[in-house]
Amino acid sequence: MITAERFETYCETIYPAEAGLLAELEGYAAENDVPIIRPAARRYLRWLLRTIRPKSILELGTAIGFSAILMAEALPDAGIVTIENYEKRIPIARENISRAGVDGRITLLEGDAEDLLKQLNGGSQNYHVPKEGFDFVFIDAAKAQYERYLELLMPLIHPGTVLVCDNVLAQDSGSILDSHYAIERRDRTIHDRMRHFLKQVTADERYVTDLSMAGDGIFTITVM
Ligand SMILES: C[S@@+](CC[C@H](N)C(=O)[O-])C[C@H]1O[C@@H](n2cnc3c(N)ncnc32)[C@H](O)[C@@H]1O
Repeated sequence: MITAERFETYCETIYPAEAGLLAELEGYAAENDVPIIRPAARRYLRWLLRTIRPKSILELGTAIGFSAILMAEALPDAGIVTIENYEKRIPIARENISRAGVDGRITLLEGDAEDLLKQLNGGSQNYHVPKEGFDFVFIDAAKAQYERYLELLMPLIHPGTVLVCDNVLAQDSGSILDSHYAIERRDRTIHDRMRHFLKQVTADERYVTDLSMAGDGIFTITVM
């Protein structure tokens, strides 16, 4: 039986470790308890981005800029808009993005993802959505809101847009695979909402999807 842990250990032996600034940020994130994209999800994101080559990317959940920089480095022609609401992390992300030399291609919007998506839908003054909409979306913010995000994203994307939703299976107590009753009471709302999101979207003929257990669970959606 292949376990996820054994698989990850093997992958570490064949894929190079992060280098340069990303290696530094990985260390900072570990020391300061900043949740960043796991190695399995990084491999997937790099492969997918270089395969489909989106020109415009929207990210929900910047943290300290690790995944935004990773995406910018994977695609030297892409423009990225990234959203973060945690005030303490925003200046750190800005500094990291500038140090990576990709500040000309990454726009960091400050505030709640839901509010900012509404603003983008209404024609925000701060940022102009590409005319045809975003080609790629990385959803990595508030887990209880993924279904709401997708709803608000609909006018901002187009047929062929690919959305990658990270961390869809893991929870502080247990996992989305466990029954509602096995989850601690405080985590049940997120559990129920995530399950509802996965069920709704997989059954919706407007999308084609894939649910993978890589990392903490990656759900990929292509708009038909
Ligand atoms: C898992 S981290 C993002 C990690 C980042 N994508 C990376 O891999 O480097 C999630 C981030 O989403 C932010 N976040 C959570 N809820 C949010 C919201 N409602 N609006 C904007 N950002 C939010 C958190 O502050 C946190 O920094």
